Amino acid sequence: MVAGLLIWMAFSRIWHNRQYLPGPVSQSHATFGDRCDNCHDAFHAVRNEACQRCHALRVHSEFEARTPRCRECHVEHRPVSVFLSVSNRTCVECHGNLRSSRPSGPLIHTNIGTFAGHPQFLPLRDGGKDEAAVRFNHKIHLTSDKISRDQVGPTGRLQCGDCHQRQADGERMKPIHFEEHCRRCHEQQPPNPIGSISAPHSSPEIVRESLTAQLLVLGVQNAETIFVGRDVPLPGRAPRPPVDQSRTLREYQEKWLETLEAVLYRPFDPTPSLLEHNKYCFLCHIQEGSRVAGELPHIQKTDIPRRWLKRAQFSHRHHDLLDCKTCHAAVAQSEQTSDVNLPNKGVCQKCHVDDSVRSAGTDCMLCHLYHDTSKDMKTRALKQKVIAIDLLTGRSR
Ligand code: HEC
Ligand code: HEC
Ligand code: HEC
Ligand code: HEC
Ligand code: HEC
Ligand code: HEC
Ligand code: HEC
Ligand code: HEC
Ligand code: HEC
Ligand code: HEC
Repeated sequence: MVAGLLIWMAFSRIWHNRQYLPGPVSQSHATFGDRCDNCHDAFHAVRNEACQRCHALRVHSEFEARTPRCRECHVEHRPVSVFLSVSNRTCVECHGNLRSSRPSGPLIHTNIGTFAGHPQFLPLRDGGKDEAAVRFNHKIHLTSDKISRDQVGPTGRLQCGDCHQRQADGERMKPIHFEEHCRRCHEQQPPNPIGSISAPHSSPEIVRESLTAQLLVLGVQNAETIFVGRDVPLPGRAPRPPVDQSRTLREYQEKWLETLEAVLYRPFDPTPSLLEHNKYCFLCHIQEGSRVAGELPHIQKTDIPRRWLKRAQFSHRHHDLLDCKTCHAAVAQSEQTSDVNLPNKGVCQKCHVDDSVRSAGTDCMLCHLYHDTSKDMKTRALKQKVIAIDLLTGRSR
């Protein structure tokens, strides 16, 4: 008996608890798998702390009433395929009858057992709104006959792909960019009798710098027209005064800057013809606060959402064969930025149906992650811990 215990202790100390011989650990842990005490200490089931020596603790939810053990989901000493053994049952154990320490808030769904019984996605519930601070009317752009073929090609109509192109990873769309997606039809050229002036698309401060510089160039190049007056006597034509009465270049610049800015920052007025009367900044932008006399206006940040279903996974790439209309049918009729034109759960359920052989799948893990449910892989990578090489080789012990 005592001898047995001594041999046990020898195994424990010298061979790092190798006396159990349960089979190899998972592939990811193979480099240190024979150092059993990296995860085990004698007489205890594997504890979370053991894993956390190498992995950062990433909780599932700060409102968890109970934090499960790592080993409940991450089993070892089995074939690689079951290293992560998470079935719906694991999630439903909690979510089927959820106990949460959240005092109150938007997550009120305590009995999610299947995808069929799953709540409607948050942005598509009543009151869900697109909060982007930019005016945009999909319907007008998809149907207007004021758009010419040389602006959009032979179909004479804008297509989704003119403004929405996939990111390199295929998951989401690239952000909207004025230069790429709007400028060709909404160039900012305020009228000016001397020559063409074009506002860059930037903050009002930078626009001012650029306009001032462009006015200087125009002033120098057209000094004759501006300051001298072309009094060429022609039969039948009255002598023409100079186009501008300014006496100095600076005066000319200041005066025209004011005129151009007054045009660019004309307040939005929805009643007259949109394009003719609202060509400039506030056709699309919303002014922040009211404009103080003599100061430049403040343009509200556009904040066009980049991700909608932040707590789930969705990739356009895996739904490549479908027409945009299958999921974004409402876009064609959408007149307000505030409309949310995303597919609701019912659309997904056409293909993601519970218990069907032809289902595209309804496992919780198809659409969700467990750690860092926000699904933001960059944030997640930041939270990961660098695993010290000594821990793996055991040199520090
Ligand atoms: C990467 C961490 C890790 C390493 C290294 C590791 N194990 Fe395990 N081991 C676990 C986990 C986690 C479980 C329990 C979950 C399961 O059933 O897979 C477990 C389960 C066991 C069990 C079954 C008893 C129990 O607690 O459930 C034995 C026996 C065992 N390990 C022995 C060993 C031996 C011997 C070594 C060294 C050769 C070793 N382990 C190395 C993580 C590890
Ligand atoms: C001695 C350090 C160490 C310990 C202790 C350890 N791991 Fe790991 N683990 C690693 C390394 C190294 C990798 C592979 C590299 C990586 O993914 O960062 C890994 C990978 C993983 C992966 C897979 C990552 C992937 O992308 O496939 C999971 C899951 C994991 N560990 C869970 C655990 C759990 C659960 C425990 C506790 C039972 C544990 N680890 C204990 C070092 C450790
Ligand atoms: C309820 C089940 C569950 C529990 C408990 C759990 N995990 Fe996981 N873990 C998962 C699932 C599912 C994945 C794969 C999806 C994901 O990454 O969220 C995963 C992935 C991982 C990964 C690889 C991805 C990454 O972020 O690096 C590591 C490492 C990991 N878990 C460590 C741990 C540790 C350490 C614990 C204990 C503190 C733990 N897990 C507890 C379910 C679980
Ligand atoms: C130990 C219990 C437990 C387990 C197991 C569990 N969850 Fe949760 N989950 C919670 C709690 C508690 C919340 C927070 C609810 C709240 O905010 O009121 C939550 C929240 C969530 C959220 C919303 C997260 C957010 O950012 O607002 C998602 C999605 C989720 N869980 C999916 C899963 C999936 C998928 C699994 C299976 C891999 C799973 N959960 C397993 C307890 C659990
Ligand atoms: C002329 C450019 C343009 C075209 C063409 C266009 N969009 Fe958009 N789309 C935008 C802009 C700008 C936004 C951001 C403003 C907003 O949220 O409404 C946006 C936002 C969206 C959104 C997310 C916000 C919301 O409204 O729900 C979806 C989904 C969308 N577009 C789908 C489509 C589809 C599908 C098509 C083709 C039928 C299409 N768009 C054609 C410019 C365009
Ligand atoms: C192919 C040309 C074209 C492109 C590209 C284009 N527009 Fe337009 N836009 C028009 C035309 C034409 C109208 C006027 C439609 C009408 O009055 O029938 C218009 C009207 C508007 C209006 C006023 C109507 C409304 O939505 O309230 C806004 C705002 C607007 N566009 C914003 C944008 C934005 C933002 C982009 C870039 C994402 C963009 N446009 C790209 C041609 C275009
Ligand atoms: C046809 C619509 C349209 C017009 C006209 C327009 N913008 Fe924009 N503007 C946008 C869109 C769409 C974005 C967001 C995408 C981007 O940054 O290109 C944007 C972004 C900006 C931003 C960056 C702020 C942010 O939140 O991303 C500034 C600053 C800005 N615009 C200033 C101006 C000024 C100044 C004018 C007038 C000279 C102007 N814009 C005219 C559509 C327009
Ligand atoms: C299977 C359904 C489905 C199809 C088909 C689909 N989408 Fe989406 N789309 C979604 C969902 C779900 C989201 C919300 C994803 C997120 O941001 O979390 C989305 C988001 C968007 C967004 C706003 C967010 C972003 O990624 O910029 C745009 C724009 C968009 N889709 C355009 C398109 C266009 C263009 C097509 C056709 C080429 C298309 N979608 C096809 C389901 C679909
Ligand atoms: C017309 C059928 C159809 C519709 C509608 C549909 N899906 Fe899918 N989905 C599929 C198929 C088929 C696959 C498998 C694709 C593969 O294996 O590459 C899939 C795969 C997925 C995946 C796993 C791959 C990935 O993107 O990470 C997720 C998540 C997903 N769908 C979410 C959704 C959501 C959310 C909706 C509703 C907004 C939706 N799907 C609507 C057919 C559909
Ligand atoms: C076909 C994809 C899909 C499947 C399968 C799925 N979900 Fe979801 N789930 C989503 C989407 C999309 C959201 C909305 C995310 C958002 O609003 O950011 C969501 C939201 C949630 C939320 C947040 C609830 C709330 O009140 O907003 C929880 C919790 C959740 N899912 C748990 C689960 C569980 C548990 C399962 C497995 C029984 C599951 N989901 C299966 C796509 C899916």
